Amino acid sequence: MSTPSGTNDRDRVLEATDIVSLVAEQIRLDPKGDEFVGLCPFHEDSKPSMYVVPRKGFYHCFACGAHGNAIDFLMNLHRMEFLEALETLAGRAGIELTRIGGAEGRASAGRRTLLLRANALAAKFFGRMLTEEDGDSGRLGRSILEERGIDSETAEKFGLGMAPDAWSTLVDRVESFRRDSTMVDGDEVPDLEIFEAAGLVRPSKRGTMIDAFRNRLIFAIRDELGRPIAFGARKIDPEDEPKYLNSPESDVFHKGGTMYGLDLAAKSIAKTRTAIICEGYTDVIALHIAGFENVVATLGTALTRHHADRLGRFCDTVILLFDGDLAGQRAADRAVEVFFASTVDVKLCTLPDGLDPDELLRRDGGPAQFEKAIASSIDAPVALLADFRKALDSAGGVSARQRIVDDVINRLNGLGLDGVAGVRRSFIIDQIAGILGVPASMLDHGPRRFTPRAAETEDHEDTRELAVMIRAAGGRRRAEESVVRLALADTALLSRTISMQTGDATALQQFEHTRFEDPPCREAWRIMEATASAGSIPEGPDLIAAIEDEGIGCIVSALFVEGLREVSVPEVDTAELFQQAADTLQAAIERDGRLADRSDLASRPVASAAEALAAINKIRASGSDPAAIGRRRVGRVGGMFTDGSYRGDPSMPTSFDAGSPE
Ligand code: UTP
Ligand code: MN
Repeated sequence: MSTPSGTNDRDRVLEATDIVSLVAEQIRLDPKGDEFVGLCPFHEDSKPSMYVVPRKGFYHCFACGAHGNAIDFLMNLHRMEFLEALETLAGRAGIELTRIGGAEGRASAGRRTLLLRANALAAKFFGRMLTEEDGDSGRLGRSILEERGIDSETAEKFGLGMAPDAWSTLVDRVESFRRDSTMVDGDEVPDLEIFEAAGLVRPSKRGTMIDAFRNRLIFAIRDELGRPIAFGARKIDPEDEPKYLNSPESDVFHKGGTMYGLDLAAKSIAKTRTAIICEGYTDVIALHIAGFENVVATLGTALTRHHADRLGRFCDTVILLFDGDLAGQRAADRAVEVFFASTVDVKLCTLPDGLDPDELLRRDGGPAQFEKAIASSIDAPVALLADFRKALDSAGGVSARQRIVDDVINRLNGLGLDGVAGVRRSFIIDQIAGILGVPASMLDHGPRRFTPRAAETEDHEDTRELAVMIRAAGGRRRAEESVVRLALADTALLSRTISMQTGDATALQQFEHTRFEDPPCREAWRIMEATASAGSIPEGPDLIAAIEDEGIGCIVSALFVEGLREVSVPEVDTAELFQQAADTLQAAIERDGRLADRSDLASRPVASAAEALAAINKIRASGSDPAAIGRRRVGRVGGMFTDGSYRGDPSMPTSFDAGSPE
């Protein structure tokens, strides 16, 4: 979480950043009132739970609790370090960082930032080796590219380069930069040790540092933001081995989640809602040149659900290209596995005559044939089930057919069908039934029933008592929340005078944080008190950033966004609303004081989730508002509160969720 501070690089960068367009590069956002909503990229979201509030530069997911400002968004989504996120946003906004004042001014670059700098510097170096007019390796590299039909513009776009045919050109360059304290792009050049960790240099057998890539054509592997994070290096000398050398995994390069070309393909993937996955660097480049831009490659690994989840943020369909005559059974298995595990549809495409895309496109009419092949891609389950279908069609009797269907189910469960739930499960079952030509009921015996634990619970004798307690506690909490919501949304309210029996004073003077019983409300109030005594009260996002407990931060963040909604209703007088909320809270506090005198109910712990659920269901049946009791599900906060509220246990029935407020 970023630390709040005064007017400095951080504030200037946040000020200049449009959080809506930043988030919209990752997920589709639709306007809704003053906000924007979309599917949360931080968890598997089925209905839009991610809210982006442009006027506060804030995002919040009502399902998983993810929240923060633009810097937090990048830190969380790309696992960036603070400085890295700051630099990324500064670059986008065209802001020059002063690097003085504020926490980040003193922050030294972390390891990721250094690795990125090393990779960026190497990418520049390789690029220059390819383009320089009078160098031998440049001439050689350019002629190789020309043979392969790659023009200089494409070479630049993809960050192609050359590693010279020498032992230590890059090593020497880095050492001379460091000796002369040469700055590159305003930054100090990292130590050779960092270049070694990035796999760009290595010790030779004699112990001296040498370049890792020598006499090779270089493909820069970049992340979604276009930053070089690794390199692929193809041999030039036929005698060399291996054909391709790749950077090792590092803090900035994880093979399993990275896709080559995604930075250039993302727009087209989002537009066509389809991503085509091919084998490697040259295929991606050849397809881009031919005008197929929604193309990426995995890096020497099969498609995984991580790839698919990533792509699922931009598209609905992923097409796997195969250059064999037949997509092998293993490939189909893997594809179906990914299909079950992710939210995208996976299709298989076989190119004609065993050609790879590069070869196919060079043929006469190649692009048209490619397009045709793509259009006739088959769903992964269809490919997988083709043999079963044949077996079914020729099966003799009912029991033979049933046996085949059982085999299918076993096979599919082995690939993960048993883990698929909800609507997607019904769709998939219908599709499979269609492929096999059998009724869906033969495959699935109805959706697995989710029995609420309450239904299994005997009516507890204490339930009535418990219900009374919960109702009282729920009312108190609602009152606390109202005050906190409004205060967070408009911190100026805290310095206005409100009237109470005790006299006129500001809300901060009227209520102390210790009077709030709900832990998130108490913590929010405590932070407001703490920062108010130091002068002016920061805005909601910075208050939330100052909360240390992650789970409490999630809840307070939700209160903040809900409060914004309340104060943005045009005909509402916010000050009056706040006065009413304060009156209600005061009344609730007084009533609780009287109740506490009468019984020890309010401090009695609840024995089990089932007990609380039973009580709450009673309240539900009596027509009260259960959503106010079973509060929104938030990440990492799980547990029973003594007021019977339940937060964040995924084993609880989901109908119990308030979900996103409507
Ligand atoms: P190719 O063997 O076709 O590579 O592999 P190429 O460079 O196009 O070589 P030629 O000219 O046809 O012989 C296709 C893709 O597979 C990946 C590369 O991305 C390459 O672009 N690949 C191949 C590797 O990553 N490592 C390898 O060892 C081989
Ligand atoms: Mn090839």
